[in-house]
Amino acid sequence: MAASAETLISDQHKVLDDEWTIVLPLRNNQRRKFPKLKSAEQQKEQTQWVPTDLETTQEREQLLMKKMQISIEKLEKSPFFTVFMDQIRGPEASDYFLKRTRSEHKLTMVIYGIGSIESYESPRLQLSLAILMKRRFDWIGEIEVFDPIISLTESKVLKGLGCCVLSVNEQGRRQVVNPTMFFMPHCEAELYDNLLKTNWKYENLKQIILFGNSFEKYEQHRSVFGCSGLDDSRKHIVSIQPFTKEFEICTVLDDYFRAFHGSSWHFFYH
Ligand SMILES: C[S@@+](CC[C@H](N)C(=O)[O-])C[C@H]1O[C@@H](n2cnc3c(N)ncnc32)[C@H](O)[C@@H]1O
Repeated sequence: MAASAETLISDQHKVLDDEWTIVLPLRNNQRRKFPKLKSAEQQKEQTQWVPTDLETTQEREQLLMKKMQISIEKLEKSPFFTVFMDQIRGPEASDYFLKRTRSEHKLTMVIYGIGSIESYESPRLQLSLAILMKRRFDWIGEIEVFDPIISLTESKVLKGLGCCVLSVNEQGRRQVVNPTMFFMPHCEAELYDNLLKTNWKYENLKQIILFGNSFEKYEQHRSVFGCSGLDDSRKHIVSIQPFTKEFEICTVLDDYFRAFHGSSWHFFYH
């Protein structure tokens, strides 16, 4: 089903011929705290999933729900959120959004890699942003969430907030049928690459709206650190670069920097 990176690109323009590697920086020590993606072989399997932490109490759930409500309110009143919404509605980006949201179907928002909303503020702010988008835009339909580290408490609170928690680890390999928004804040490169690879044809890629780590920055790191062999796990991110329109999320050094820095909206083809 999915063509190779080279096949897609040669259909459009010739972009890649050499092999090289992208070197990525560690971010905020967070990589050590989260489980790594599985090996390429393991990743091929989309496995049934249950929360690892199966203990919960009503008090814990209520406390987390309260934290989420505070986070949503705080974000909604912030200048960051005003700028974020203005960007989506602004003259440059709105055209890209409109092309994908005019569909007769509401867009499903798939959230991968949200992290632990119980343990950290960044995942709470990221989820708050997704929920506020759903409240503001009538073209957003169901929100589906998956992260292998979600606990039972988090799963219950996510459901209480109107999200559907997936019971299968798709490894990012969701094939789009209708326009779909993928909200993947600060995910590992492999997860973006899996998504691209699964949808590696024009008809699918053009239906995707992707929020995640800036692909341009991956490219800049590649240029800075040199080209010594194409890293398979980033091959599609790099190959799609010439056909990607990216809108950087504006963060200043405030409460929202940690949660959203280095993030962008990505559209493939116009
Ligand atoms: C670097 S962390 C980012 C967490 C959070 N969004 C943040 O910015 O702090 C990457 C997240 O991706 C999650 N992840 C790993 N494999 C995944 C998969 N197959 N599907 C969805 N999420 C996955 C990890 O558990 C982790 O929470």
